[in-house]
Amino acid sequence: MQRLRIAVLISGAGSNLQALIDAAREQDYPAEITLVISNNPDAFGLTRARDAGIETLVIAHTDYPSREAFDNAIHAAILLRNIELICLAGFMRVLSEDFVTAWRGRLLNIHPSLLPKYKGLNTHARALEAGDTEHGATVHWVTPELDSGEIILQQAVAILPNDDVASLKIRIHALEHLLYPQALRKVALEFKSN
Ligand code: GRF
Repeated sequence: MQRLRIAVLISGAGSNLQALIDAAREQDYPAEITLVISNNPDAFGLTRARDAGIETLVIAHTDYPSREAFDNAIHAAILLRNIELICLAGFMRVLSEDFVTAWRGRLLNIHPSLLPKYKGLNTHARALEAGDTEHGATVHWVTPELDSGEIILQQAVAILPNDDVASLKIRIHALEHLLYPQALRKVALEFKSN
């Protein structure tokens, strides 16, 4: 089976990356993680990737004079390896419009909220402060406007009376680990059938 070649971009713990790596170990999974790029040399996700035998690259934004130059370095590295789809997984840099446009329809992100609610940061605290009864996670296509692209998969969890940011974050993370591999499977199968 021909699997779609995926690059995952991370900045931190990489638990979503781990979920994708684990899913891609399944024999019938239509995608393989072939490259992991981090802008942060200390990201634990790099260790996860190395442990799984996946090529890793550190492309530190601090080494580049502009956002565009940083994005160009990522673009070049990805092109060189014939990557077909990019998954952002806790990648904490906003990508330039040129990059996003070049990869439009091939660039996914996971966001810890029920988009279009709570774009940006601190989603759990904002959902709690608003007194919401549910919160969730969304996998979506990336467009130049932050957290605004078309939704691929979304799922909610109930907010419980005793929830705080920490407890909610744990449940949302667990949900993300199910949702992202499902969304990537869906997208990869659609790609292969086109
Ligand atoms: C996740 O909550 C994801 O939705 C957000 O950043 C977090 C990354 O966590 N974009 P991890 O590095 O995958 O553990």
